Amino acid sequence: MSQFRTFILALIASFGLPWLCLIVIPAVKYQALTQIAYDKDRDGVEGLYPPAPINRQGQLVYAREGCVQCHTQMIRPTQLALDGWRKGWGQDQEGRPAAAIRSNNLRDYLGEPFAFLGVQRNGPDLTNYGWRAPERSKIHQMLFAPRSLHDWSNMPSFAHLYTERLAQGQPADKALKLPKKFAVKEGYEVIPTPEAEALVDYLLSLKKDYPVPGESAAVAAAPAAAAKK
Ligand code: HEC
Repeated sequence: MSQFRTFILALIASFGLPWLCLIVIPAVKYQALTQIAYDKDRDGVEGLYPPAPINRQGQLVYAREGCVQCHTQMIRPTQLALDGWRKGWGQDQEGRPAAAIRSNNLRDYLGEPFAFLGVQRNGPDLTNYGWRAPERSKIHQMLFAPRSLHDWSNMPSFAHLYTERLAQGQPADKALKLPKKFAVKEGYEVIPTPEAEALVDYLLSLKKDYPVPGESAAVAAAPAAAAKK
């Protein structure tokens, strides 16, 4: 019997403790996080951080389509302060910003039932895609036919989120303007489904580099505050 008790205690120690420390405690801590207010004098910005929630409907489409298999949404901290390489990280390198992109923290994911950190980074990181996104119609075009924008693209097409229908007179405003090679049959047009619209709303809402209250980067990001000093 005492052996049985040792066995149970050992089980608790080997599975229960890690579960408590790695899952339960972090989950409880995370759930206790709330938005925090900016301090106008210190941060140079007003309002709450993080300011805008993501688009939840679109996030469900993102989850279902498995975008997380190829796209991450997490900029890791660099422990060695080697932040220089991260200037303009995850975007076209032309016109890179002068300041390094900041790494993400827990609050960046507030309001998201799941944080879509990603599985592999086959495509660019989308953490801050909302800032660098092109116009709406181009995002739709990319999801419908990725190679119509980059002929080297190995992103799969998500054409099933679009409807091909007979064009009635003038093409609809929402109809995708595809280059000849990718155009659908003469007299037909491609229209985004409400799901595709929600997905694009979600992509546009991805802006996880708002200044963090109380961090020096926030002051640097607010020229008005810097000028005052
Ligand atoms: C098989 C891997 C794969 C999957 C799955 C995938 N992508 Fe991509 N994606 C890529 C690659 C590779 C690129 C870069 C090439 C390009 O721009 O066409 C890319 C580019 C992008 C870009 C442009 C990023 C930028 O910085 O300009 C967006 C936005 C995007 N994908 C969204 C999505 C969404 C939304 C889904 C799910 C519906 C998805 N991707 C699924 C591989 C993938």
